[in-house]
Amino acid sequence: MSDDLTAEDRDLITAARAAMAHAHAPYSRFAVGAALRLSDGTILTGSNFENASYGLSLCAETVAIAAANAQGRLRDIARIAVTGGPIGDAPGTDIITPCGRCRQIIKEAQDMGGRPLTILCTAAQGEDVLRLTLDALLPHAFGPGNLGIGAD
Ligand code: THU
Repeated sequence: MSDDLTAEDRDLITAARAAMAHAHAPYSRFAVGAALRLSDGTILTGSNFENASYGLSLCAETVAIAAANAQGRLRDIARIAVTGGPIGDAPGTDIITPCGRCRQIIKEAQDMGGRPLTILCTAAQGEDVLRLTLDALLPHAFGPGNLGIGAD
């Protein structure tokens, strides 16, 4: 993994990769893991949670952010890691980035936290890390500020 990654970022990526093991993805056979580092260092994880209706499946990032919110920590998210790949004998080597819906949900976390968020994107295996800001992933976004809702 990139030499310039901090130990904290390495740990976050490791946590996201570990969360892939809990994916409920019998339909796509594609596991995704997400990990959030909160401002106090706590790490929360999520994995994708599919169901028989297909379209109602929950993404790993969404699950993790909802878990933070359920703990009253939506505003404390400092960093995000996401990873994923096909379930099976050959872990994927393609880097995963958040889907469009997840980008909007990360936008909510970013704006309610009042700090820019960076997402560490990796494949299930391999050293490469794509570090992307939410603002790069979702430019010109609609967000809570458009409805008069702010971080305070
Ligand atoms: N998935 C995520 O969990 N996060 C994303 O950002 C992209 C897609 C999941 C949804 C579905 O369970 C599987 O990956 C295949 O699309």
